[in-house]
Amino acid sequence: MSRPETAARAAGAGHDDWDVIVIGAGAAGLMCAITAGARGRRALVIDHANKVGKKILMSGGGRCNFTNTGTTPAQYLSANPHFCKSALARYTPADFIALVDSHGIAWHEKELGQLFCDGSSKQIVRMLLDEAEAVEVQVRTHCSVGDIRRLEQGGFVLATTSGRLACESLVIATGGLSIPSMGASGFGYELARRFGHEVLPTRAGLVPLTLSGKHLERINDLSGVALDISAHCKGVAFRNRMLITHRGLSGPAILQISSYWRPGDELRLDLLPGEDALAWLQRQQHERGAAELKTVLSEHLPRRLAQRLCEVWLESRPMRQYTPAQLHDIATVLSAWPVVASGTEGWRTAEVTLGGVDTRGISSKTMMSNTVPGLFFIGEVVDVTGWLGGYNFQWAWASGHAAGSVA
Ligand code: FDA
Repeated sequence: MSRPETAARAAGAGHDDWDVIVIGAGAAGLMCAITAGARGRRALVIDHANKVGKKILMSGGGRCNFTNTGTTPAQYLSANPHFCKSALARYTPADFIALVDSHGIAWHEKELGQLFCDGSSKQIVRMLLDEAEAVEVQVRTHCSVGDIRRLEQGGFVLATTSGRLACESLVIATGGLSIPSMGASGFGYELARRFGHEVLPTRAGLVPLTLSGKHLERINDLSGVALDISAHCKGVAFRNRMLITHRGLSGPAILQISSYWRPGDELRLDLLPGEDALAWLQRQQHERGAAELKTVLSEHLPRRLAQRLCEVWLESRPMRQYTPAQLHDIATVLSAWPVVASGTEGWRTAEVTLGGVDTRGISSKTMMSNTVPGLFFIGEVVDVTGWLGGYNFQWAWASGHAAGSVA
């Protein structure tokens, strides 16, 4: 193959030549460039934002939930659930932990395999920049890309705000659409389409749900109430905390289920997760027949919620007065409380983007386009989205590493 810089030179003077240019200095882009740099490739990472890794910095409440030790392909949503397997198998949480350890960054497991920095997310960005510097990767911020041309001989020429750049391999790591104020853009999707790739419809994931009308009025004054629940939608369930907000529902259990929920879908919440609601009610009836339902419920659920349940969905009476059929109905409300969500809080607060560049057009081993040699897509721009809990960064590291190993 002819050297693209030669081709690029032929295409016009006055540009920088690189082996690899990565667009997007986020988690995936930096990992890709570091991996390519370690192979001796001359790699440049460009980003239109004023600093790199903004989402890393804001992640995990400022402590970056950088991976999950329980990562398997089952925690990812994609039109092709098999696509993520290869990259995840070749760069594992243990690999990233070893990198973090080699930089002396202290970390802890919060819950469910979620690893966070003891100190700050800044340490992860610093680590990536130090790694990049060690293998002579260059990083340029404030750099926007305009036209991108593919040369017949192979390679690409980019018109950017810091001049014309040329490269043999071009890696798109521009992330998803969430939090536009952090630099998110639809650029990666537009570029994919321009090069003939399919882009599957995008929507906000890991996002609070909104309620409206009477559904909201019934609970919005309970804003701030939090409890353990199990959220169920379309055969998928997540057990974790839920928070009632003044606009609807949030908290980890709701964020998780939001990635599966679509407008019109039935959503049910088990308010007594891990408990057989009917057996529990029968026990209460047997042991404390004179106690009112709202009193019994208040001992198990936040008091204000228990009272509201008894005002709107249930009728509070002394436990002994309920017939078996009525107890059964109460158990159904408690274990499958129906929620009618009207939508989500959208891109402003979503942690991730579902959908994106169709994996059918990309190699799962290398992340390279099947139709445009030298063009790669990695990270969140691809139609692979993880659950809450460090899985999205693990995908960013793994897909970045896969591309960086060959780009
Ligand atoms: P990322 O979005 O990180 O990077 C893309 C880069 O491309 C950005 O720097 C952007 O400026 C740049 N870019 C975009 N368009 C461009 C253009 N046209 N030209 C040049 N540059 C361009 N995940 C997790 O596993 N654990 C966690 O704790 C969290 N926490 C979390 C909190 C919040 C508030 C959010 C919003 C998200 C998370 N996530 C998370 C998700 C995680 O941040 C996300 O999945 C990864 O950052 C995706 O990495 P990428 O490198 O693909 O995109």
